[in-house]
Amino acid sequence: MIVIGGPASNNLDERIAKILGVTNIKVYHKLFPDNESYLRLENVDIVKGEDVVIVQSLYPPQDKHFIELLLLIDLVRDYGAKTVISVVPYLAYARQDKRFLEGEPISVKTILKSLSVIGVDYLITVDIHNRDSLKYFKGKGAYDVTAIPVLSNYIRENIGLENLLVLAPDKGALWRARELASRLNLEYDYLEKFRDRYTGEVKIKPKSISVKGRRVLIIDDIISTGGTIALASRESLYQGATEVYVACTHALLVDSAVEKLRKANVSKVIATDTVPSPYSAVSVAPVIAEKLRGIVN
Ligand code: R5P
Repeated sequence: MIVIGGPASNNLDERIAKILGVTNIKVYHKLFPDNESYLRLENVDIVKGEDVVIVQSLYPPQDKHFIELLLLIDLVRDYGAKTVISVVPYLAYARQDKRFLEGEPISVKTILKSLSVIGVDYLITVDIHNRDSLKYFKGKGAYDVTAIPVLSNYIRENIGLENLLVLAPDKGALWRARELASRLNLEYDYLEKFRDRYTGEVKIKPKSISVKGRRVLIIDDIISTGGTIALASRESLYQGATEVYVACTHALLVDSAVEKLRKANVSKVIATDTVPSPYSAVSVAPVIAEKLRGIVN
């Protein structure tokens, strides 16, 4: 097996290859003056007849990173890779998993169809927004691995479990809170969220759970603008929580997200290395490596 790190691998390729004890190569990458990506794999012939893993995340600029991923897949196919496994730690466009309004594309379908067509045999992603979306991938297999085991280890060791209540910011994310809470033997609940599909504004309705006097850990898949978590944090503190911690898989932190979280009095944010961020203290390499062992062996 050969693990190739694309320009947006965030060094996960190195961590995965180290765990598996396999060859790791980096793609040479530069930008042309007009901003198009130039890629080159030295000694490219080593991919011939091999199981080739391409690690490329789709954090912003997601469209550029997606094109680079397509170029890399096509490249190793041209040079005779036996199996192509695409590891996409953060799968962009996954939140547009249906037509919320008539006339919209199902963006995640387009992304996954493209990967199938270009020649990906297996796809591995981490905490995809909605697992059902994987049905749009038409290769040999698509897998969503969860960061919850590595996040929960970190939380146990760095936050402590005393008086800790796990909260999902909405009902859809309740399973995530349940899974984390059951690993840590904690109570869990959710906050009610409503997103206006036209203005994009997120509101959180008061909930019945008592957070009074509790330390709260809010878990979500993505922090993008930070609006959802900032509201959840403020609401929890308003209702009497003593401290608010936040765990997420993908810390995109666009616009002034960091500032918003600070102003909402979040004590600590814990995120993974699917996306580079100041909070990405937890690596998902172990859970990806485990899945790769299952696919290739
Ligand atoms: C939404 O359904 C996701 O699970 C996240 O809650 C959302 O993407 C967070 O976005 P933002 O940080 O912009 O509120």
